[in-house]
Amino acid sequence: MDDGKCKVLVYDNISETGLEHLSKDRYQVNADTGDPDAILLRSRNMQEMKINSSLKAVGRAGAGVNNIPVQRLSEAGIPVFNTPGANANAVKELVVAGLLLSCRNVIQAWQYTESLAGTPEEISAAVEIGKKKYAGSELPGRTLGIIGLGAIGRSVADTALQLGMRVIGHDPMLTVEGAWQLPTEVARASSVAEVLANADFITFHVPLTDDTRYMINEHTIRAIRPGASLLNFARAGIVEDSAVAKALSTGSLHAYTTDFPSPELIGTPGVIALPHLGASTVEAEENCARMVVEQIRDFLENGNIRNSVNFPAVMLPRGTSYRVVVTNANVPNMLGQISTAMAQGGLNIHDMINQSRNTLAYTVVDTDSPIAPDMVARLQAIDGVLHARIV
Ligand code: MLT
Repeated sequence: MDDGKCKVLVYDNISETGLEHLSKDRYQVNADTGDPDAILLRSRNMQEMKINSSLKAVGRAGAGVNNIPVQRLSEAGIPVFNTPGANANAVKELVVAGLLLSCRNVIQAWQYTESLAGTPEEISAAVEIGKKKYAGSELPGRTLGIIGLGAIGRSVADTALQLGMRVIGHDPMLTVEGAWQLPTEVARASSVAEVLANADFITFHVPLTDDTRYMINEHTIRAIRPGASLLNFARAGIVEDSAVAKALSTGSLHAYTTDFPSPELIGTPGVIALPHLGASTVEAEENCARMVVEQIRDFLENGNIRNSVNFPAVMLPRGTSYRVVVTNANVPNMLGQISTAMAQGGLNIHDMINQSRNTLAYTVVDTDSPIAPDMVARLQAIDGVLHARIV
């Protein structure tokens, strides 16, 4: 921030509708810089990124953060933000499209029609053959299994019910808030296996983690109801492509609609593969960009934290113009040491909030008088403090 402006490095296609909220007098956006204050991105793989000492925040315009080294950033005291729900409708719509494409055999039928040639009579005859060959089934009365009942899973559940489907869902991480927002008609399964055994369509809406990697593999796929269809608009790696290709070839799976093509899947009969289009709508891109920019701004300008995947939620309306924020290890006596250092610096605390999440704690302190710049060094000298910043 040498010229007083925050440097925001932007990767991927982040909508201008969001970026324009980073005012030019305060932010240098997409600066060709090795020392960004914040990074905004979508799917770019940052796992091997070098964490520069200037970095204060990473914002993911989207839900998944498997492309971001969250653990290393946490250890460096840097919050990672995402935008849960901002693209839920876009993904939901593509899931619904996937349901219809697979149950009506639309892609195969379209490819068949594209290949037709001949006289009008010959084409009419071929149409009659296709009509029998690609006859499908309807959605009402069919069961949709949903693995993961976050914002997207809930939205899918809602629409599936409106389409007359039965819905069974499983999510071991379901929050109380999330459960309240779930339609009461959704049957709660106690395990993934219960969903697999009871659904005609199974859709995944979980992040890619060590627990969800290859959730569908050559063993678990055997639990799926014969003739069922899978939809994966969550992440590559949740479904093992080789297991799916095999199940499609034997007919035990009817179709696999996925946003994550791989050499094994491309051209395989029964696979409908798209180029990661789930969140790629104008509306979703704008929603995600606006949300992530607002959150990053509020963090850089006020130290507040909303929708972080590794930090606690912390919101403190400004009580005075003088504020310092501190990230520290979640161990005893940190608050005592922080407030002692501030008292020794002649500061009276006006208001403060401290929240923790796993191994991290975060404190926002408003003081009655200006905070001298050397207070940052004093706070950072405390054993366990990872980061301190005057905002
Ligand atoms: C997500 O995780 O929400 C999507 O991958 C967003 C995107 O396509 O960038």
